[in-house]
Amino acid sequence: MKLKIILSFLILLIFFLITGCERKVINEASNDNNLNCFTCHGDDDFALIAAKGQWQKSVHASGNNIDRNRNYSSRYQTCEKCHTNEGFIANISGVAAAGDNFSAIGCFTCHAPHTNGTLAALRVEDAATLANGTVFDRDEANLCASCHQGRENADTYVVDNIKFTRFGPHYGTQADMLIGSNGYEYAGYEYDNSPHTNVATKGCLNCHMAPAIGYAVGGHTFNMYDSISGHENYNGCNVESCHDGEVDTLDYDGVQTEIEELLDSLGTILQNAGLLDSTLHATEGLTVSDKDSSGAVYNFLFVEYDRSEGVHNTEYAKGLLESSINFMNTGNPNEVAQHRWNNIAIAH
Ligand code: HEC
Ligand code: HEC
Ligand code: HEC
Ligand code: HEC
Ligand code: HEC
Repeated sequence: MKLKIILSFLILLIFFLITGCERKVINEASNDNNLNCFTCHGDDDFALIAAKGQWQKSVHASGNNIDRNRNYSSRYQTCEKCHTNEGFIANISGVAAAGDNFSAIGCFTCHAPHTNGTLAALRVEDAATLANGTVFDRDEANLCASCHQGRENADTYVVDNIKFTRFGPHYGTQADMLIGSNGYEYAGYEYDNSPHTNVATKGCLNCHMAPAIGYAVGGHTFNMYDSISGHENYNGCNVESCHDGEVDTLDYDGVQTEIEELLDSLGTILQNAGLLDSTLHATEGLTVSDKDSSGAVYNFLFVEYDRSEGVHNTEYAKGLLESSINFMNTGNPNEVAQHRWNNIAIAH
């Protein structure tokens, strides 16, 4: 009997210790950091659940290129800062990543909620500087631009007598393309920008993080198109100050078809000239005497790696492709060849 009383007392004591502890952790956190766990983790706050479901369908979560880190090959250490969570944070904080484990670009890559007490404060908010020194400043999209950029400066990278070794900008030239900068610009040709350069004041977010359709497109999927469900997201396009309900295809006004056709013809011209190989990469080991010819290869890859097929900045993409095609056909970026489609490239 006595034993039973002592036991129940002990159990009660343990219970109070545990619940007391729990309360203490929460209170301390909210006192010290002005942060209440249940602001974000409450039973009726579903924003985190939705974001997580969407994120799991994003290429940030599922892409294979997280393997670009030192544990695969020492030469991939420089890739960590954009391809892994740890590398990205190490690059911002200046504290080197331990290198034991690398995880995907996830919640804590872009947010630091437990440090900042808010989801709105992102890891990167300052304007991003492109490789050619141009400043990209589009609100929260500065975060995206810190990774999604071409990494080479076309002005100093594309030079005479260059030997092609994995020649070209890096995959993901989206930030450069959106603001119309850092393609190979021929002297004497005038390059324009499309409205997206300026009307998308939140940059990438206006379109890629527009209200989500389930877990397929939009929001934290960052996708515009989902091949499984077939969903395309026009929620960002069809707002009142923009297309106001007019968009019902991503190939709006045939822009993607047009840019694809230009890419195809430039690709064929460059292959015929021996500058691109059969896989549409710069011909490895080739030395090209004239920078205007390697510039055409650079522009082909720049538009190809942007991957929006002209949506990000139709005028700039078109300008880069047309000036390159003209140069390859006539030696003059402004002069259209008379028989453009079956002309053999003369300049290289
Ligand atoms: C400003 C919003 C916010 C606040 C406040 C917040 N969290 Fe979080 N927490 C998040 C987000 C975002 C995640 C990542 C999504 C997820 O795992 O559900 C997360 C994840 C977690 C996780 C899982 C960790 C992991 O690695 O997946 C734990 C545990 C956690 N939070 C505990 C807490 C505690 C304890 C507090 C209070 C001291 C707190 N959180 C306050 C936003 C917040
Ligand atoms: C830490 C660097 C980093 C940041 C920040 C970042 N991305 Fe990415 N993003 C990547 C990488 C790397 C990939 C490719 C992942 C793979 O293939 O494994 C990618 C993939 C994508 C894709 C999918 C491309 C495909 O193949 O379908 C989209 C869309 C995208 N990002 C948009 C965004 C947007 C919008 C933002 C800003 C809200 C952003 N990203 C922020 C590095 C980043
Ligand atoms: C400045 C940031 C940055 C750095 C540094 C970087 N990458 Fe990337 N990389 C990206 C982004 C962003 C994407 C996704 C682009 C997209 O999907 O359009 C990507 C995509 C890729 C892809 C996928 C291409 C495809 O078509 O699926 C490969 C492969 C790749 N990177 C290799 C590397 C390697 C190897 C390194 C290091 C030598 C490296 N990257 C360094 C930002 C970077
Ligand atoms: C590639 C960067 C990136 C990643 C990864 C990311 N977020 Fe976000 N998140 C953003 C941006 C950008 C915003 C918009 C911020 C703003 O408007 O202030 C945002 C907004 C949010 C919001 C508030 C808006 C809303 O949708 O209600 C929540 C909640 C959120 N994120 C949760 C998460 C969680 C949970 C994860 C991981 C599962 C995550 N995020 C991963 C970039 C990211
Ligand atoms: C005006 C709307 C808009 C803006 C702004 C925008 N995008 Fe896009 N983006 C698109 C569309 C539309 C596509 C093409 C999707 C398709 O056809 O599958 C695309 C394609 C992409 C792709 C290739 C994805 C894939 O599935 O092949 C990536 C990566 C990407 N954008 C990243 C970005 C980044 C990073 C920014 C900001 C620097 C940005 N985008 C700004 C609309 C936009």
